[in-house]
Amino acid sequence: MRAPTITDALRARRLLADHLPPTPLWSYPSLDAAVGGGATVLLKHENVQPTGAFKVRGGLTLLAGLGAEERARGIVGFSTGNHAQSLAYAARHHGVPCVIVMPEAPNPAKAAAVRALGAELIESGADMTGAAATAAAVAERRGMRLVHAANEPALIAGVATAYLEMFDQAPDLDTLVVPVGGGSGAAAACLVAAAVAPHCRVIGVQSAAAPAAHDSWRAGTLVERPIRTRVEGLATGSGFALTQEVMRAHLADFLLVPDDAIAAAQWLLMRDAHTLAEGAGATALAAVLTHRDRVAGRRIGVVCSGGNAAEAELRACMTEAA
Ligand SMILES: Cc1ncc(COP(=O)(O)O)c(C=O)c1O
Repeated sequence: MRAPTITDALRARRLLADHLPPTPLWSYPSLDAAVGGGATVLLKHENVQPTGAFKVRGGLTLLAGLGAEERARGIVGFSTGNHAQSLAYAARHHGVPCVIVMPEAPNPAKAAAVRALGAELIESGADMTGAAATAAAVAERRGMRLVHAANEPALIAGVATAYLEMFDQAPDLDTLVVPVGGGSGAAAACLVAAAVAPHCRVIGVQSAAAPAAHDSWRAGTLVERPIRTRVEGLATGSGFALTQEVMRAHLADFLLVPDDAIAAAQWLLMRDAHTLAEGAGATALAAVLTHRDRVAGRRIGVVCSGGNAAEAELRACMTEAA
């Protein structure tokens, strides 16, 4: 498998131009005040994508690149929800059959969205590892194309368009903070920053309660870790070869944050940036708030990667904040 290049990202940008308008990049004085230390936060609103998350960029790019025979066979994905919605959305756009496997008891909002987009939804497995096994079996049995959420160059190239946009909107960012689950977003940020903004440090963030990508990056080899986080977008149990390869080459640092800090950042986004973020979407801001000392005086791009919060999750984060 070949790592995507900046040329692939530029191609994806052309491809997506007619479909997805650029998402806003805003700064909020009250968020800057909450971070303190003279830092400026520029928030990239990927939560306003039609599926509510950045992943749709990847799904549309991957599906556009499939040949007629692969399209006819259809695709299978496994996901806690946003990769799922991305594939379902792109499959509907291209008229391709789509099966999604989600771990049991998924976020009801994400499950409903996948069904509404016309994909077949199978709930299977206690976590992503279980869902992955079911998805592989379904793909084998039905002859469909299995689409991994991280080891897919086209997904990374598609997601990279968010970072091309960001550096277009703010070429002087000196720090870029990206939430990491499987690592497609962070790998994409690395790829783009290395090509167009080599002065900018890209920092990955994961929940301390599911640190497989972080630990894999630090160890320099793929490791598995238990998934104890309640932040579903970050709930991956192992490092993945392709995204780790790209992150190893370009990521400046990799931080961990507790789930409670993520919930607190979700609340701040609601209060100070009138933004509804799911946990993963608030994780980059949580890292900036938790590790303030590392970002004092910086001009920081913070990716609000998604807004598909479950109702119970929102109620809990508002109750805790009260
Ligand atoms: C909203 C959101 N943010 C961040 C991530 C992590 O992205 P990646 O798996 O590309 O590291 C996900 C993954 O599903 C997500 O849904």
